[in-house]
Order: sequence, then structure tokens, then C-alpha cells
Amino acid sequence: MSPNQTLRNDSRRTFLKFSVAAAAASAFRIVNEPMLAAAAVDRDMQHFPPGAVVINANENPLGPCDLARKALADIIPEGGRYCWWLKDELTKLFAESVGVKPEYTAIFPGSSEPLHFLVMAFTSPTRSYVTADPGYESGMHSSQLSGARVVKVPLTKTYAHDIPAMIAAAPDAGLFYVCTPNNPTGTPTAHLAIEELLAKKPKGSIVLVDEAYIHFADLNATAIDLVKAGQDIVVLRTFSKIYGMAGIRCGAAIARPDLLEKLIPQGGGSAMPITALVAASASLRHEHLVPERKQINTTIRQKTFDWLSSQGYTYTPSEANFFMLDAKRPAKQVIDAMAAKKVFIGRIWPAWPTHLRITVGTQADMDAFQTAFAAVMKNSTGVSYALPDTLANSHRDGFLADGTMFPIA
Ligand SMILES: Cc1ncc(COP(=O)(O)O)c(C=O)c1O
Repeated sequence: MSPNQTLRNDSRRTFLKFSVAAAAASAFRIVNEPMLAAAAVDRDMQHFPPGAVVINANENPLGPCDLARKALADIIPEGGRYCWWLKDELTKLFAESVGVKPEYTAIFPGSSEPLHFLVMAFTSPTRSYVTADPGYESGMHSSQLSGARVVKVPLTKTYAHDIPAMIAAAPDAGLFYVCTPNNPTGTPTAHLAIEELLAKKPKGSIVLVDEAYIHFADLNATAIDLVKAGQDIVVLRTFSKIYGMAGIRCGAAIARPDLLEKLIPQGGGSAMPITALVAASASLRHEHLVPERKQINTTIRQKTFDWLSSQGYTYTPSEANFFMLDAKRPAKQVIDAMAAKKVFIGRIWPAWPTHLRITVGTQADMDAFQTAFAAVMKNSTGVSYALPDTLANSHRDGFLADGTMFPIA
């Protein structure tokens, strides 16, 4: 059979497959829309056993808001086009929502990309990457590629970034990464401390403030005013957390236009998935989304804290949708024992080997967490459910056993 013939046969098989699938899908649309939706959820959860409680990746169990869901469904027929105007529309809407001019905003598929691009643009073998410990590791991984020295500075006693220590530790700094509220502790770093960092940082370096979780905390504490003041600062925001769009991928960098320009050669001006654009715009138009979801998270987090306190456990005073819980025993044991009870909790940071990161899920998730945690702490021996490899290995500070990176959250 000639290669062309194989191609034709393959195309026909593919066409037939899609025709059958399309017919089945349209039959479903008429007769059983909810069943189709339920099937989709099951597929998403295929890494986990049925009935699993998934509170391991700081995701939002509420998912996209109703307006975003409708926008996503409505845009499907346009999927064959780049629709650049949708990116312009979101840029304008987003810029307005944070009070900057559109040229101070760049939209990306999530905030991970601009984070990586900034590390590549501002660090090198002679310009170090400075971060908190425990802190979010993504930029640290990018530093492997830029060849930068990674300087990890322990958090203060109140779990804030230790700004004087960060400045003192890296006279050669290229980029200071400040995550507020901090992942994994959920604790903020004061605006005044960021101002101090900007005033005292080495010439030519920048401050990167990651505000992925700020909507759950105090939005007034944002560092965006320092962007407006023309400082050497980039603020990152994402639609992955409070907006519940982690799988849809949308984020933004807010900075002076000359700083944003440095991201363009790396791919910063590329086309966006139009699904992400319309879902993000719809979410921004939802007036009550942020206060409503913040309230839900605060209430469930506080109830969880109250229960933990009543049981004698300590945890970080988080303002976000996750917190660090001290298990006072090797955390990996507890993670595995919880997984055996189908409750999947977050990772370990080597600096705090007895702590677990717990994401705040729905109230039902947290009730299940409490039941499982109480049982595990009473007797944490038996492990009957083997974690899928990727999840089991995610305990190792974001690296797989062979040293490659694990996609972290
Ligand atoms: C602090 C922080 N920054 C950035 C990200 C990346 O998020 P995304 O690329 O989904 O916007 C995460 C994800 O968990 C995070 O925790």
C-alpha cells in the first residue's frame, strides 16, 4: 500500500470516527445533556479513583462561573479563527478592572508563561533569582534554564517574605520573586516591604509580585499602584484560582510597557485560545464573582481552622484557598495514608518536612478531609491505594524521580 493510500484510508477512518461521534453527540444533545456533562466530569477525574476528594492543587472546585460557561459554549463555532479582537477586548476590560492603561497589560495563557519569560529575561549566570522558602517553585525551575543562581530565603516568623534578608543575600540579583499571599503558606507580605525592596534592590533587577491568590485575601494590598508609579515591578494575575479557570488557561502581566516588551520575543504576543479570552472577559463582567467566592472560601477555611484548632493542630494563618498544616510527623506518610482513603492533599516542601499543603475545597470536601485526617492521625499505617506515578512523585519539591520537572500548582 502506498503512503498516499495509507493516508487516504486513515483520513477515511478518522472521518468515519468523527461522523459517528458527531451523530452520537447530537443525539445526546437532544436527549441527554446532563448525562453528557456528567460523563465529561468523570473523564477529567480519570487520574483519581471514583469518589475521590481532590484538594491537592489549589484549584477552585466551583469552576468557571455561569457567564463564562455560556461564553465558552457560544464561541465554539469561531474556533477556526484567531479572533485577535477578543484579545484586545480582554486586554481593555482587564486593564480597566485593575486601573491601568491597556498598554500596561499583557494577556497570556495562564500566569506560568510570563513568570517563565521574566525569569529568562532578567536572570542569567551572573544575575541571580531570589525567592522565599517555602515558596512557589516555578521560577526556580526556569532558573535552571537561564543558568541563574537560586537564592532561597526563609520566611519570617509571621510567614512573610524576609525582604531585608532577600536584599542582603543577593547583591547580584536579577529578579526578586514575591508571592503574596505566598504559596504554600497563604500568608501576605506587606505593601511597605515591597516598597522597601524596590528602593533597595540592585540596579537593573526587577521585582516580580505574583498575586495569583490575592482575590481571596485583601485586594487593596495589591502592588499594581507601584506599576502605575513607574517602578521596576511586574505584577502577575491569573484566572486559574478564584475565577475557577485553571484548565482554560488565562493570566496577565501588569507592568510598564518597556518591561512587557521584553516578553514579546519569547512568544508574549502570541494568539490566545479564544475560549480563554471569552471566559475571562465574561468572568470580569460578573460583578459579584470575586466577593461571593471570597466569602465562600473564607467561611469554609475558617470552619476547617476551627476544627483543626479544636483537635490541637497548628496551621499557617492563611488568607488564601489553601494552608500549611503541621502533621508533626513525616508528611509523606500522611499524604499516602490520606490517598488510601481517597482524599488527595497537596505536596511537601523540603524546608518544612512535617507540613502538608491543604487546598480549601467545598464544605463536603473539607468534611471528608476531617474524617479521613482524624482516622489517619490515629493510625497512619496502612496504604492500600497506589498513587498514579505522576501524583506520587509530585511530593519531591516539584521534581520527578529522574530529575525532570513535575507540573506544579
Ligand atoms: C503562586 C502561583 N503562581 C502561578 C501559578 C500558575 O498558575 P497558572 O499558570 O495556572 O496561572 C500558580 C499555580 O498554582 C501559583 O500557585
